[in-house]
Amino acid sequence: MGAAIIDGKAFAARVRARVAEGVAGLAGRGIVPGLAVVLVGEDPASQVYVRSKGRQTVEVGMRSFEHRLPADTGEAALLDLIAQLNADPAVNGILVQLPLPGHLNSDLVINAIDPAKDVDGFHISNVGLLSTGQKAMVPCTPLGCLMMLRDHLGSLSGLEAVVLGRSNIVGKPMVQLLLGDSCTVTVAHSRTRDLPDVCRRADILVAAVGRPQMVPGDWIKPGATVIDVGINRVAHEGGTRLVGDVDFDSAAAVAGAITPVPGGVGPMTIACLLANTLTATCRAHGLPEPEGLTA
Ligand code: GUN
Repeated sequence: MGAAIIDGKAFAARVRARVAEGVAGLAGRGIVPGLAVVLVGEDPASQVYVRSKGRQTVEVGMRSFEHRLPADTGEAALLDLIAQLNADPAVNGILVQLPLPGHLNSDLVINAIDPAKDVDGFHISNVGLLSTGQKAMVPCTPLGCLMMLRDHLGSLSGLEAVVLGRSNIVGKPMVQLLLGDSCTVTVAHSRTRDLPDVCRRADILVAAVGRPQMVPGDWIKPGATVIDVGINRVAHEGGTRLVGDVDFDSAAAVAGAITPVPGGVGPMTIACLLANTLTATCRAHGLPEPEGLTA
C-alpha cells in the first residue's frame, strides 16, 4: 500500500476544536450559538445521527434544540415549527433530518427554512448563491471533503477533478466547490461512457455514488487523491461491515492519498455542521467569520 491515509476522525476533531474556540470567543459578547434539529418519525439511522449531532453540539459549547415529531405529523404543523424556529433569535441553525416520511414534501419543507439559518445548505437560495460564487451556506459533506483536499494538497488550482455522482446533497455542490478552487471538473455518473477512462484522468477523485466498492484501483491515476464519500453496509463473515464506493485495498496501492471508510469523510459531516452553525451565528451578528471553516 503506497497511499497516505487521510484521517477524517483526527481532522474532524481539529475542526471541532476550532469551532469550540470560536464559540468561546462569542461567549464574551453574550452570544451562544444554537442549533435546532428536527426529526420526524422513528427512522433508526436518523435517530442515531440526531443523537450524535445533539451531543457534539453541546460538546463545542453550543445550545442544542431537538424537536422530535411523530411520523404522521402534517405538513402544516411542520411548517409552523419551522416558522417558530426562523423567528427565534436563540436559534442560529436549523436542520430538518432527511429523509422525511413520504407524505411530506421535502423541497417545500427545506425551502421554508430561513436561508441564513440553513446550515445544511439545501435551501434553493443557498444552492443558487453557491453556484454563482456568492457567499452561501455550503452543504456539510462536500465542505468537509474540500477542507481535507485543501489540507492535503494546498492549492487545488488547475488540477483535474472527477466527481462520481450527481446528487443534490454531495455531487453537485462538490462540483461547485472544486470549480471555486479553480479545478477542471468533470461530473461522472451511472450513465457516463468509458467511466474507467474518465476516472483515470483525475488528480482528485471524489466518489459519491452509493455503490459498494464500485471503483477499483485500476480506475485510479497513480498518485491521485481519492475522497470516498460512500458509506455502504455489506454482508461480511456472517455479520456486516461498512465499505465505501472505492475498493480500498486496490485503490490504496495506486493512489497518493485516500480517505478510509469508516473514519474518512463520515466524521467530517457533523464537524462541518457545527462549523456552519458558528458561521451562521457570526453572520447573524455582523461579526467576522471563523477562519478556515468556510468555503
Ligand atoms: N440525512 C442524511 N444526511 C443528512 C444531512 O447531511 N442533512 C440532513 N438534513 N439529513 C440527512
